[in-house]
Amino acid sequence: MDIKATIRVIEDYPKEGISFKDITTLLKNKKAYKETLDLMEDALKDLEFDYIVGIESRGFVFGAPLADRLGVGFVPIRKPGKLPGDIESISYDLEYGKSEIEIHKDAINKKDKVVIIDDLIATGGSAMASAKLIESLGGEIVAFEFLIELTELGGREILKDYKVISLIEYD
Ligand code: PRP
Ligand code: MG
Repeated sequence: MDIKATIRVIEDYPKEGISFKDITTLLKNKKAYKETLDLMEDALKDLEFDYIVGIESRGFVFGAPLADRLGVGFVPIRKPGKLPGDIESISYDLEYGKSEIEIHKDAINKKDKVVIIDDLIATGGSAMASAKLIESLGGEIVAFEFLIELTELGGREILKDYKVISLIEYD
């Protein structure tokens, strides 16, 4: 099926000039959601890794079911103040605004191999910040996987030292 056609595009949200890719319409469509997970799972099948790391919040919607399908654990990277244990934290610039993300220090051990999942890569800021968190704990990033890549924002270039998988592109 045409998965891209199930993603709703809303112009000028959250501010003027931003063309927002709304995945809620994909998620509500059980066939589109399942086929999306099938494709994301298939793209990871030849890689070896210990954990899927999902970036809150939209990264959880794809990362958690993929971890279950692939038989690996799931590690959340969360927005500030949500993780109860000792955390590692990093702040970074977003396509619109600034943000900060955190991970539990004991969630990743040295040499752990991870795949980082998010719904979308725009500037690559969230992904790069996530890579820094994982690497600061001694983890190794086997790949990034995104459902959507906004090609004109150059995120792939920022992640040029990593394997980057994406399924759907927008200019
Ligand atoms: C969006 C999107 C990615 C990130 C991509 O998340 O889900 O995580 O921005 O942008 P970047 O490549 O420029 O970093 P957002 O922070 O809006 O929050 P949400 O996932 O909780 O909706
Ligand atoms: Mg997000």
